[in-house]
Amino acid sequence: ADTLGAQAAQSGRYFGTAVAAGRLGNGTYSTILDREFNAVTPENEMKWDATERTRGSFTFTAADQIVGRAVAQGQRVRGHTLVWHSQLPSWVGSITDAGTLRTVMRDHITAEATHFKGKIYAWDVVNEAFADGTGARRASVFQKVLGDGYIEDAFRTARAADPVAKLCYNDYNIENWSDAKTQAVYRMVRDFKSRGVPLDCVGFQSHFGTSGPPASFRSTLANFAALGVDVQITELDIAQAPATAYADTVKACKSVARCTGITVWGIRDSDSWRSGENPLLFDGAGNKKAAYGAVLSAL
Ligand code: XIL
Repeated sequence: ADTLGAQAAQSGRYFGTAVAAGRLGNGTYSTILDREFNAVTPENEMKWDATERTRGSFTFTAADQIVGRAVAQGQRVRGHTLVWHSQLPSWVGSITDAGTLRTVMRDHITAEATHFKGKIYAWDVVNEAFADGTGARRASVFQKVLGDGYIEDAFRTARAADPVAKLCYNDYNIENWSDAKTQAVYRMVRDFKSRGVPLDCVGFQSHFGTSGPPASFRSTLANFAALGVDVQITELDIAQAPATAYADTVKACKSVARCTGITVWGIRDSDSWRSGENPLLFDGAGNKKAAYGAVLSAL
């Protein structure tokens, strides 16, 4: 096939991109979006600060725009994200009472997952709950006020609101098998699966430096998949976009049957949150870069 999405579909996978609602009116952007991708992730529009700016008052306009367009185009939607320490309104961050925060978290998950019910392929239910460099939990307000149990509570709440969407745990720096953070997330997933906590998938953000994925990435994906979850590459970008590093990432996913798809974190370099590193598959003018050809051939 001659597009990323169509080529990925030949092995039953998707190839997606992060989408920003504010860019949809740009013709170059939307032309590439519709031509190349069969999945989308709203880049910021589903985050807590965008959807529940004040308690109990929900705004889904920008996310609806992305989701409506994706559904019309036949693209899958990854929902990103329900519980995260970042882009979190200060009214949530300042809650100190466990009963209040538990209710607030459950209400947020229920309202958002219910709003998008029937349109979401997979939800990043909890994002980035582990600290870097150690196996410890990140000291977020959720961790500090609710303790370890908040993650499974979030997954159970999401399942009750949307029984069909796949429910993912998503994080970065969990691509290298021997890292303490990878091991800690692995132990959590193993524990959840053994106790029947509703977790269906693990998202590997994959924000890589110029050297690309670690040599162990393929085995990391395979080891997680062996626990009985799907794995997905959810936010791929690679500094300077070396063709080989991109191809290696695609090959790692393709080598694991339960690696169901890859999402790049933006379309053109100029759309990237790391735009200074030119980490994407299209240049600022929308031309295909060398990495594009390498990905298409590896898919
Ligand atoms: C980034 C967006 O790309 C930026 O536009 C925003 O300013 C900050 O967040 N991990 C995630 C994503 O899970 O939501 C982040 O996206 C990048 C890191």
